[in-house]
Amino acid sequence: MFQETPFNELPMENLAKHAQGAPAACEAVTASAGTAPSTTDLHRPRDLWYARAKAVIPWGVSSNFRYWGERETLVVQRGEGAYIWDVDGKRYIDYRLGFGPIILGHAYPEVVQAVARAIQDGVTFAMTNVYEVQAAERLCRMAGVDMVRFVNSGTEATMHAIRVARAHTGRERIVKFEGCYHGSHDHVMWSTASAPLGALGSRRSPIPVPSSSGIPSVLRDKVITLPYNDFEMLERTVRDRGHEIAAIIVEPMMGNMAGLMPVKGWLTFIRQLCDEHGIVMILDEVKTGFRIAPGGAQQFFGVQADLVTYAKAMGNGFPVGALAGKREFMMTIEPGAVGVGGTYCGNVVSVVACDATLRVMEREPVFETISQRGMRLMAGIHGILDRHGIPHVIAGVPAMFGVIVGTDADAALPRDYRSVLRYANDDLSHRINWALIHSGIMVDPDYQEPWFLCYALSDADVDETLEKFEDAVRAVLRS
Ligand SMILES: Cc1ncc(COP(=O)(O)O)c(C=O)c1O
Repeated sequence: MFQETPFNELPMENLAKHAQGAPAACEAVTASAGTAPSTTDLHRPRDLWYARAKAVIPWGVSSNFRYWGERETLVVQRGEGAYIWDVDGKRYIDYRLGFGPIILGHAYPEVVQAVARAIQDGVTFAMTNVYEVQAAERLCRMAGVDMVRFVNSGTEATMHAIRVARAHTGRERIVKFEGCYHGSHDHVMWSTASAPLGALGSRRSPIPVPSSSGIPSVLRDKVITLPYNDFEMLERTVRDRGHEIAAIIVEPMMGNMAGLMPVKGWLTFIRQLCDEHGIVMILDEVKTGFRIAPGGAQQFFGVQADLVTYAKAMGNGFPVGALAGKREFMMTIEPGAVGVGGTYCGNVVSVVACDATLRVMEREPVFETISQRGMRLMAGIHGILDRHGIPHVIAGVPAMFGVIVGTDADAALPRDYRSVLRYANDDLSHRINWALIHSGIMVDPDYQEPWFLCYALSDADVDETLEKFEDAVRAVLRS
């Protein structure tokens, strides 16, 4: 099904190293280096634009995750390749990449031109169009799935996947894992990375914690939340309640928890339990799909789910998502009986962007290039933190990895949401990340969001990043 590639030879374990005899480096951090900007020049374009934004957009952002604080929330002007520029004209090497979608580079000419050409002939027909067919054929070939339905976001993809799974099984409950994020609909906003440790209950009987006010409490009864990578808890739950469970939805690696990896056998264990109990396995590849390998996590980890959800990298930043999978499960969708759809599903902008993005991936060494640069970056960051005596874990894969700075050199290495929260030194991470942002390296201030790499990132960019990373660590430890 998949072409032979070197991707499954990449390191699958988290790169972890406890610094020996780590000094009280972390405690030494008290003052200003790496803190958010403390002065506001009211004449800066950013401040003027942000004031205008706040007047008409709640908190000045179109998605809550983008709100970094009154003075810190950025206003962007443009992007090109591996860089973005803010409205003050400052350039950043971009490792957020819009929370992951930009896999080739910002404004990648071939994709932009394909979309610009196609939309001259119309955008939305709400009928099958030729671009959609071409994109679907390419996506199925690359991802190793039988069929696909295009949607416009990851949220739509997981929402539809869960409905299809419920329709397929005639059951209503779903299992999701603590710290995994599957979009902003009510059925999955439970025990995501915003849940406080104290609210989650015990490991043996976890409490689903809503991620927002406004989520109907009756839905709590429809979701079972479990710790990631916990074989015993999952087995016990499925053994006791398998007949009520429609789907297990899982991120193949914890793309919303610093890229923490599945321990060996975790995904195949889920596959096996789903088979034994007639449960639909939904692999949420919104972050990993077309990012960690041409065939995403299914190829990388060698597991085949029943339904797979994609978005982000499949369109290099254009708004597109997909629900895909095995024919038997996809054909549960039925006009008038099992609903999946929307006015903009399969619109020309999104499917042409998808087809052009995947075409570049099929033709050029996108994944090899990103892997090589990402490995250098991971190893470089690992070395710097080591040299400065800071306990840490570099989790994930080169295209998408997390830097978890630890509190304690003797702490057990994290393998799920609960243990990451216990392990991580939030304050030190935050200071380092802000120092990076100030120096023109755009990472998310929150360590839970992985670093993402794009094809346009050069070796020189990696060198610059490592230099600035070392400077940031030095400055933060000095302050
Ligand atoms: C794994 C995963 N699933 C689903 C989503 C939701 O995607 P979207 O933001 O496109 O709705 C996200 C978003 O970050 C995600 O990381």
